[in-house]
Amino acid sequence: MLTEQKLFIDHTDLVEFADAKVNLKREDAKAFREQVGRLRDKLELHIADHPDFGIKKMLLSGSLAKGTALKTLNDADVAVYVEVAGKPPASESELLNWLTNKLRDAYPQMKPDQIKPVTHCVKISFNGTGLDVDVAPVHYYGKPNDVGYLLSKSGKTVETSIPLHLKFIRVRKDRHPQHFAQVVRLVKWWIKQRKDADDAFRFKSFMAEMVLAHLSDTGTDFSRYPEALEAFFNYIDRSQLRERISFTDYYQASDLPAKTGAAMEIFDPVNATNNVAADYDETIRKSICAAAEDALDAIAEARFSTTKGRAVECWRRVLGPSFGS
Ligand SMILES: Nc1ncnc2c1ncn2[C@@H]1O[C@H](COP(=O)(O)OP(=O)(O)OP(=O)(O)O)[C@@H](O)[C@H]1O
Ligand SMILES: [Mg+2]
Repeated sequence: MLTEQKLFIDHTDLVEFADAKVNLKREDAKAFREQVGRLRDKLELHIADHPDFGIKKMLLSGSLAKGTALKTLNDADVAVYVEVAGKPPASESELLNWLTNKLRDAYPQMKPDQIKPVTHCVKISFNGTGLDVDVAPVHYYGKPNDVGYLLSKSGKTVETSIPLHLKFIRVRKDRHPQHFAQVVRLVKWWIKQRKDADDAFRFKSFMAEMVLAHLSDTGTDFSRYPEALEAFFNYIDRSQLRERISFTDYYQASDLPAKTGAAMEIFDPVNATNNVAADYDETIRKSICAAAEDALDAIAEARFSTTKGRAVECWRRVLGPSFGS
């Protein structure tokens, strides 16, 4: 009789690896969220004293808000809602300078050089005593659900809603408690390995989340991580990322544009005209597909390995040299 052979590397090994090396520790995430909470409280006090300040509020966005942060997290992402009478500053540099001055006013206890415009956002530095905070402006003009014009980290201004993004991810997290966020983090870890090996490699976290959300919506099981990762790589390998990805949480399929001609089309769940992958060209699409194919091969080879050492080597091709060490 055939008995199922035990795999050298299985789900439990990936759980242990994620806990030890990949995930931001719960208490660190809590401390960082509290740090942002203090910034927000101070800003709120300042706004209460200065009703015409031009900034309405601060929201935590990004991976700390979504519960998908890696241990290697460099900064917290927040969005501040800019609401000024008349036109907001026209150019990006004017907007960031304006925001920098506003934040320096709101945080007089910080040194001015702790608050500076950087590439496409304003950075608040804590000089090693906490996580740096990247502040992205959202030009807000009274639409519901905090829809406004976000200056994204790629420098593109997109009409979108941070709270609706959080809600969108929350729906998938609730469908796969614990597992959706964990698979996101493992995929982000894989992306990090690819970036460490190749400066030109690109695959934005938000886009990877959209691919995984699409897999969730089409019935993928996330509860066993080797299989879930395989499903992710398999989707990319099969589709070559030429299939449009979109969602109907906040708009109808009929709101989507005709084929845009972009190398990849992954639409923002909140805005049917915002292709999150608009600035990814054929070269990037192919490099993502090639990397996914290699990961698929490695996982398959790991499964048929006859020694643990060989299986670990295969998984290192996916999850990097710290796997199994
Ligand atoms: N092109 C875009 N269009 C719309 N919203 C975007 C876009 N890029 C980023 N965002 C918003 O910014 C948030 C942060 O995006 P990002 O890709 O930095 O993900 P992250 O979860 O913070 O990952 P990381 O841990 O890599 O920083 C997203 O959750 C989304 O709300
Ligand atoms: Mg981020």
